[in-house]
This record gives sequence, structure tokens and C-alpha cells, in this order.
Amino acid sequence: MPHSSLPSTFNAVEFSQFGDVEQLVMTQVSPVPLMANEIRVKNIATSINPIDFKTRQGLGWAAQENADKLPMVLGYDVVGTVEEVGTEVSEFKVGDSVIGFVGFPLKAGCYSEYIIAQNEELVAVARHYNALAGLPLAGLTAYQGLFEHGKLKSGETVLISGASGGVGYLAVQLALNAGAKVIAVASKNSHAKLQALGDVTVVDYQQSEMFEELPAIDLWFDLIGGEPAILQLTAANALERLVTVPSVSKDFVCDSVLGKASESTGMLVKNDKEQLTNLVRAVENNSLRLNIAKYMMLSQVQEAHRLAESGTLSGKIVLTMNR
Ligand SMILES: NC(=O)c1ccc[n+]([C@@H]2O[C@H](COP(=O)([O-])OP(=O)(O)OC[C@H]3O[C@@H](n4cnc5c(N)ncnc54)[C@H](OP(=O)(O)O)[C@@H]3O)[C@@H](O)[C@H]2O)c1
Repeated sequence: MPHSSLPSTFNAVEFSQFGDVEQLVMTQVSPVPLMANEIRVKNIATSINPIDFKTRQGLGWAAQENADKLPMVLGYDVVGTVEEVGTEVSEFKVGDSVIGFVGFPLKAGCYSEYIIAQNEELVAVARHYNALAGLPLAGLTAYQGLFEHGKLKSGETVLISGASGGVGYLAVQLALNAGAKVIAVASKNSHAKLQALGDVTVVDYQQSEMFEELPAIDLWFDLIGGEPAILQLTAANALERLVTVPSVSKDFVCDSVLGKASESTGMLVKNDKEQLTNLVRAVENNSLRLNIAKYMMLSQVQEAHRLAESGTLSGKIVLTMNR
């Protein structure tokens, strides 16, 4: 039975054609019945990830795969409370506070006041609050990039390029917590923020000569991709392993270190409930700080996408359902 507070319609932001921010339109949606293994969450906040505006623009795999299934609701991060559970769900009950990485990569759906998730996509949190929406996609990418794909170990040197962004800021902390030596590449404006995280060597990417003076790098974690990444990698003297995260340029960024690095790979983040649980616990025990640049309302989504695309913020935009 639906929970009694579920409204007959609710707000969601969808787009029906690929294009600019004006394609994002607030619509009224009716709730659909839950399957036995599904959970309905009353969403308090989601966050904008670069894949959102790339998909809206019609770029990348998620856009191609959804081209004949529009309209689409974007968004993969959710924080909120359980509104209703399917008949086979025993782990969660109505009223629980949860966080989730939902519908990745093709379904998405979190730019919406209510979302439907699978049991494996949600993790209980002690307390829900808006900033947590900056964690799921970015945190899982940082963790998997460093430790699964990058095989980072204590005592190794990791260079993180794009260190002040949504993924990078979390990656710097996860690497420090794991006992790695961290070199963070970011604009000068973000250096103080990164140095406040611990013993971090900062490099200003506008000073290209700095890349020729780098020590030997065990793992290069690239979050910028494309020509800027290749320029940095080409200038570096010695690196052992490369993980490059932006999917669209992964092949030619990997090719740029042929003969220099012994391993290079792209990656696609995947859902992992245990890893998300560990990330949540790290936030809860203050060993992982979130990097929220701005809070905006879901109704301000067009302006929020414009801002996210401009590249002028260092950190994530959280979209809240209420003021
Ligand atoms: N494949 C996957 O599964 C996956 C998953 C997550 C993200 N991604 C991709 O990974 C990328 C990073 O994601 P994100 O959420 O962290 O993005 P983000 O929040 O926009 O962060 C990128 C950061 O890079 C910095 N930057 C810009 N030019 C730079 C340069 N030349 N050198 C070093 N840093 C530079 C910017 O900050 P400053 O200029 O202020 O320093 C910015 O904060 C995006 O392309 C995203 O689509 C892929």
C-alpha cells in the first residue's frame, strides 16, 4: 500500500530533446506502483555531476542509449527518507534516512521529489542532510579510481589532476587516509583549501613548467581528460600507472603515455553498496569532508546547469527540493 503522505503528483525536471539548459523543464509526475524489490524515497537533495550536462547536451554513452527513450529525468545522487517499500524489501522501513547512487548509467531519475531505487542502490545514514548528495557518484569514482583501477598503496605517490573538483577533493582525502603521498593539481585559488586537508603538495596547472619538475609518480589520477591532460602527462618525467576518468578522451589520453607508464586505463564508476557504506561512515566520523560549492533549488536547475558547465565553481552544486 502506498504511504499515506504520497501526493498524487510531484515535481520532476525532465528534458525531451538534447540541447541547452532551456530543455530542462519542471513537470508534474504521477507516482507509479512499486515492484516487490523497490523502495520509494522522498528526495531532499540531489547533486549535479558533469555527466548530467553532457547527457543533456546529447554527448556520451548515456545520451546515445537514451536518444529514443526521451523524455529523461537526470540525476544519480539521492538523499532523503524512505516513503514506501515493496513487499520483498526487509532492509529498509518507512521513515529511514537513506543515501543512494541510483539508476547509473542509463536510467538516472534523481532530479525529482520522489525516486524509486533498488535495495542495492541505497545505504542507511544516521541523519540525512543536503550536503550528503555530493557524495555517491563522486565518492565511488574517487574510491574505485584510486584503489580498484589504480591499485594505490600506502607510501606510494599519487598525483590527482582536477583535485579541487567533485571527485578530486574526495580523492585527495581518501589517498591521504590510505597513507599515500599526494600531489594535487588545481588552480591557485583552490590551493589553500587542498592544503587544509593535510600534507598535500599543490601544483598550479597554469604554471606548465611545474610538470617537468615532478618527482616519480606511482599513480596519476586524471580527472580533466583531453588535451589539458595530455599536456601535463607529456611534460611529466616518470609515472608508473595512469587512471583517466573522463570517458570521452580515455583512449587518446592512455595512448599519450605509451612507453612511459607501465599501465594505463579508463574507468566507468559502478554501484557498490559496501563502498558507499564505507564512504558514508567516513563522512559521519569526520574523516571525509564534502566539497559543496553551492546549494540551489531544483526549480533553479537551468541556472545551476549553466553554472556547473561554466567551470567557474570548484566543488559540487547540490539541488535541494525545498528551501
Ligand atoms: N567515467 C566515469 O565513471 C566518471 C565518473 C565521474 C566523473 N567523470 C568525469 O570526470 C571528470 C571530473 O568530474 P568532477 O565531478 O570531479 O568534475 P568537476 O567538479 O568539474 O572538477 C573538475 C576540476 O578540474 C579542475 N581543472 C580544470 N582545468 C584543469 C587543469 N588543466 N588541470 C587540473 N585541474 C583542472 C577544475 O578546478 P580548478 O580550475 O578550480 O582547479 C575543476 O574543479 C568529468 O569530466 C566527469 O564527467 C567520469
